[in-house]
Formats: sequence, C-alpha cells, structure tokens
Amino acid sequence: MVLDGVGVGAQPDAAAYGDEGANTLGNLARYIDLELPNLQALGLGNLVPLRGLPPVKRPGALAGRLRELSAGKDTTNGHWEHMGLVSAAAFPTYPDGFPEEVLRPFRERIGRDVLGNKTASGTEIIRELGEQHMATGRPIVYTSADSVFQIACHVEVVPLEELYRYCEVARGILTGPHAVGRVIARPFTGEPGAFVRTKDRQDFSLEPTSATYLDLLAERGVPVIGIGKIHQIFAGQGVTEEHKVASNAENLDLVARFLRQGREGLIFTNLVDFDMLWGHRNDLEGFAAGLRTVDQALPGILDLLGPADRLLLTADHGVDPTTVSTDHSREYVPLLYIPRPPAAPAAAYCGTMADTGATAFRHLTGEWPPLTGRVLDELNPEDGWKPYPTVFAYLPAVSCRVGDSEAREAANVLGRRLGSAPETAVILGSGLDLYVEGVKEARGLAYAEIPHWPEGSVMGHRGRLLVGRRQEVDLCVLRGRVHSYEGFDLSELQLPVRTLALWGVRRLVVTNACGGLDPGLRVGEVVRVELVLDLQTPESDGRPACLPVSPADPSAGLPTPDTRPVTYVALPGPQYETAAEVRAFRALEADVVGMSTAAEVRAATAAGLSVIVLSVVTNPAGQPAKTGAPAHQEVMDVSSRAVPFVHRLVDYLLGV
Ligand code: HPA
Repeated sequence: MVLDGVGVGAQPDAAAYGDEGANTLGNLARYIDLELPNLQALGLGNLVPLRGLPPVKRPGALAGRLRELSAGKDTTNGHWEHMGLVSAAAFPTYPDGFPEEVLRPFRERIGRDVLGNKTASGTEIIRELGEQHMATGRPIVYTSADSVFQIACHVEVVPLEELYRYCEVARGILTGPHAVGRVIARPFTGEPGAFVRTKDRQDFSLEPTSATYLDLLAERGVPVIGIGKIHQIFAGQGVTEEHKVASNAENLDLVARFLRQGREGLIFTNLVDFDMLWGHRNDLEGFAAGLRTVDQALPGILDLLGPADRLLLTADHGVDPTTVSTDHSREYVPLLYIPRPPAAPAAAYCGTMADTGATAFRHLTGEWPPLTGRVLDELNPEDGWKPYPTVFAYLPAVSCRVGDSEAREAANVLGRRLGSAPETAVILGSGLDLYVEGVKEARGLAYAEIPHWPEGSVMGHRGRLLVGRRQEVDLCVLRGRVHSYEGFDLSELQLPVRTLALWGVRRLVVTNACGGLDPGLRVGEVVRVELVLDLQTPESDGRPACLPVSPADPSAGLPTPDTRPVTYVALPGPQYETAAEVRAFRALEADVVGMSTAAEVRAATAAGLSVIVLSVVTNPAGQPAKTGAPAHQEVMDVSSRAVPFVHRLVDYLLGV
C-alpha cells in the first residue's frame, strides 16, 4: 500500500533537488494535530519525530525509513524502485518547453502546429489558449515540474480518439534522452471563459526500462492486482488485473473487499489523493484528514490479515505541503511491515525502497529475489538499524506532547487518590526539598503514579507530590520539577501546573535557586520575582517574552511579601551563563538568572492562578562553582540553608 507523497524527512541528497528540510509528515505534524492512534501503535512516531505522536516502546510493525536510490522524486521512479528497478538517470523535465527535436517530428506526424509549449497549470493554459485552439485546431502542448508532456484539446475540435492518437505519437517520439515519465491527454469542453476539463484524461506512461518484480511475479502465475494508478505507472507491465478507484476511501474499501474474498497474490495499491488533492495544493487539513482516513481503516484491514498475509505500508516520495513548493520532495519514505518479524531489533530499520518488492517476491514465491532489495523477514539484526528517536530529537519550537486530555486524566487521579485539592500549592526548586519537614500529616504520590507526569532526573528533585498541613492550612507540595534541558517540551513542563489547576488549586508558590546578576544581592538571600524574561521558550515570532508574575489584584490572591522584587532571566541551561551573558543580562535590567519557572508561570497565569515566585540567590551569576567543585551541589547546599526563610515567607503569604 503506497501512500502517494507521504514522505518522512529529507534524504541526504535533498539539497540537489531543492528540498533541504522537506519533511512531509514531520512538518505537517508541526501545524496540525495528527490523531493517528493506529499508525502510531504500529510505529509511525518511531520513524521521524512527530509532534503529538511520540514513539511507542513496542511498535506493532517493523518500522523504518526507506531511501530512494533512483535519481528522481516522481511517482514512476518511486514505484519502479519499490519493484526492484533503480533508474540512474532522472526522467527529463522541460521547464523552458520542449526542444525542436521533439516538436518537429510531432508536428509532422499529426499534421498540425502546436500552441503553448511551456510550463503551465492545466486550468490556466486552457483559459489562456483555449479560444485560439478552437479557432486554429492546434493542440495545446504544455508541461509541469514533473516529467510530463501534456496535450490539451477541446473535445469538439479534436475528438477524443484523435487526441489519444496524438498522445501515442508523442509517446513514440519521447524516448532515449527525451523519455518523459508520462504523456497525458487533457481533453476539455465548454465555452470560452468557462472551459472545464473532462474525466477522460489518459496517461501514456513510459514502459519500465527493464524487468520488475511485477513481471517476475506475473511470469510465475502469481496474480498482480493493481488498484488506482498502479497499472498506469507500470504501463500495464506485470499487472494482471486493473482496478480504477475514485478516492482513497474507495481504494481502502477495495483492499478490504479483496482481503475478505481471500484473493491471492500481490494487491498493489496507490493512494493518490495525498499527492494529487492535498500535497500539490499545500492543503494541510486535507492531508491530515486523509491520514486519519487511512488510520481509521487500518484496524479493519489488519483484522482481515490471515497468518499467511503480509502488509507493507509505504510511500513513493514526499510532497511536503508546508513548504512554498507545490512540487514533490526528495524524502525518505516510511515503512511499516506487518507482522513484525520476531527477530527484528527494537530500532528503526534503514533500508531502500526495493526492500518492499524483494520481500513481497520472497513471500509470494519462496524464491530468493533476483533483483535489488533486502528481504525484511531475513534481516541481519546487526545491520541497517538506528535507535528510535528519543524525545530530544523533537523540534524545540513546537511543544504539544501532552495537552488538555492528559492534564484532565492526571487531575482525576489526584482527586481520586488524594481527595479535594488544597487551595495552595508550592513547587520546590533545587535544594529546597527540606521544606517538607515543616509539613505535617503528609501523604502523597510519586510523579510516576500520576498519568503523563514527566519524571526528571536532576539531583535533589524527588518527584513526589504531597498534601499535608502547615499550621492548620492545607497545602500541596511538589517535591521537585523537570527542566527543559532534560529534554522535556513546554507542554510537559507545564503539565503539573495545569493538572493542579484542574484539580482545584487556586494559588501557586513557585520556588527556585538562581544566580545573582545584581552584585547588590547577597548569596542566601530570598527574593520575589516580579518579572520573568523568558529566553527558554521563545514566542512564535522568536522574541523573548517578558511575563509579569505578581497577581493583578493582590487582594484576590496571594499577598506580596516584603522582599525585594526582581527580574528573573530564564535560560534553557544546563550550562551556566558566560561572563558576557551576565553583562548582557545586566544591561537588560535583569537581577537574577535560572533555568526553570518561566513555563510554570505561563501555565499558572493561563489557568487563572495567583502566583508568587520566590528565588534563593545561591551564587553570583556566572560563577556558580568554587574551582573544581560541582556547581549543582553548591547551589543545593546554599538553597537548603534558605529553607527556613522560604517557610517564613510562605507562611506569611498564607496568612498563618
Ligand atoms: N545560573 C543559572 N541557574 C542557576 C544559577 C546560576 O548561576 N544558580 C542556580 N541556578
């Protein structure tokens, strides 16, 4: 099953095709929330980082990326290579129109001159030249970014049969160096100003230049059932049955029908809507909806697979709808092979397109494949595998790994396990864990027990949520947090705060350790952050965000303690700031610097919580460590000595 155009990232040689950075699925996921649970379970998110579709631990399929060896990025090359035919030379394209050595014999053999002979959109060129064509009878010849020779004629000027004959003439001429992928008949009808193309388009494809696995299967009496464009792509060679369909949905229905009927042989299908309807038109919503259609059809199809059946899901090239180009893109294509061979390692397979044809041939004939390609059931586990991408590989600018539904799920668990939410929660930063000693009757949960909550690994961050009492006031305490430098994205950094808000917490005290930029600050001093200069999570326009953190109406939320108000610069970390950065931040009128807090403040503000931020100055910024001493340990030591002050301040804030 070929999802036409569904690429998974630029090939190493993409720059030569003008496609650097192309990534059809990956880029689409940055813009659209892809909901593809079935493809995800098979391992789609293990092939390429996809926002909202993280890798799964145990993909249901052998999941991998296949490279195209042929020189090209068109449908024909892609499909031919899947079937073992690698073309060294790209099909010719004619951005400036066809040369005389092509057009002269064409004119002679059809007995007419031609119009156009340029790159054009099909609808525009009939609008432009249709009337002239009707007056002169000359066919309109045009091309596109693809390797195509297209002929448009009005059905009342050139009868359909005659147009098809013109195409056959062109097909006969377009060989050798001019062997274009397809000659296409483009009949149209209607009056000038209102021309419409008819359904009688016909493609005259180049015959495969040597044998493919389809020929070898057909020779051995194995049925080759071509659905959609397959027959045309192979100019009928090796295809024993042809089935035309009108849409991806119809295509999938037909596949299911054939499986239900227990049809034997190779069912080879191309889902063209991705390319034709959405990819070339840069229609992101359409593309995503099309993926969803496939995702929803999959369980039904998988159910129909018997023990002797195999499913190979792949693509033929990319057509990144997020780039300005509406052309194909030189990309890896996905591979999902079902059932997953038991010996396959837990890693992403790296292969080439012909691996699909070779695998199908081996499976259907029992013979060793004589053309190129590796058999997926008989792979060397030492060879051709890459670890699944980790969370660190995600694009930092997008961050929606977890969202509302995850926060709701987590909040429900807190409600069920711990009862109703206290009004106030405190997040403890580095070194402040001792704070919990002043909280009585504490009970709680490990972060690991709260669905979707991120678990970090920074020393001193215990990863437990407590509820307890501080002088008769109920309190929720978060012992530690995760940081962006641990690889968590914004949504994960914010999930705990969003969960607390949904649970019912109304006031939040955020604590952290920081470096002092202002030389007037003492080490060990606790300050109140009034503004956050967020250099951690740039806004979509790339500028840093300056967030006010005091509650707008102090009477409605937390009172403001009598400590010095400061501006806090949030850095991505984990490295400490350089001397030049210290100077620059001073010039920006910042007072302290740290590596947390910004995301939490954003989430708390968005959820309508009152929020106060207390920072312990653990060191002069830029010099966190004594020579050779571990910086983080020093930060923890100093901030732990400030715990009594933090207690006093929070008590004051709580009015106890
Ligand atoms: N820089 C950044 N983060 C910090 C520092 C610092 O100096 N001290 C504690 N957290």
